[in-house]
Amino acid sequence: MPAERTLHVADSTVIVFPDADAASRAAADRIARVVAEAVPARGKAVLGLATGATPEKVYDDLAARAKAGSLSFRHVVTYNLDEYYPIQPLDPLSYRYYMHRNLFSRVDLAPNRAHVLDGTVPEAAAAGHAAEFDRWIEADGGLDVQLLGIGRNGHIGFNEPSELSPAEFADLPTRMVDLHPVTKADAVREFGSPDAVIPRALTMGVRQILAARSIIMLATGPKKAPIVAQALKGPVTAAVPASLLRTVADKVVWLLDGPAAAELG
Ligand code: PGA
Repeated sequence: MPAERTLHVADSTVIVFPDADAASRAAADRIARVVAEAVPARGKAVLGLATGATPEKVYDDLAARAKAGSLSFRHVVTYNLDEYYPIQPLDPLSYRYYMHRNLFSRVDLAPNRAHVLDGTVPEAAAAGHAAEFDRWIEADGGLDVQLLGIGRNGHIGFNEPSELSPAEFADLPTRMVDLHPVTKADAVREFGSPDAVIPRALTMGVRQILAARSIIMLATGPKKAPIVAQALKGPVTAAVPASLLRTVADKVVWLLDGPAAAELG
């Protein structure tokens, strides 16, 4: 099997793997390494986690390591990027349920340390809940690592394309958002029909994502090739949210498979 190759696209580090499994394994390796380093140093590791199709293999890999005894979540705290609003945690389409199925139920993570934004808070309390989420992250000492995927429109979490200036966009806190048409179109895969897609969500802010001590962007498959190239080689703009990662390029690694890297040249 051909080895991975490392590219430097402007200031960004991009590692291209032979396939999606190898890219996912590399993401799991990096997360396991963060846990191994942060727990002895600070007594805990604080992980920012993502949902969607892309990270499923990362969670399979982390769960396998936990089962084999080479990784423990006993001193881990997690914060997820986003959640639909409104939604019940037991709804199979909720991201709380996704995380339970893919990771939380398979590892020794304390339930009260697994934070997912709450899709059941009353609307009047949502802004307060979002602000509280940011205070919890801060009280935990910030995120040691944030795992990200990229939407076809460049979103990170549910921070959708925007007309704000890059500086204003980079400062957005955790909050309620309306989903972008491309995001809603892609969510039909999970929800079954366009009418069934929940059009709003709570998302971790761009500010909290960019403040993580390290960031892993995982993107696989040919559908991500155009937006990966735009984010890495186009202008840094809130119109392509992932392009803002270039403002903190020295702590970001892009893990791609060949098809996702196809338009990097
Ligand atoms: P996907 O979603 O992994 O399901 O492609 C990525 C994202 O929207 O961030």
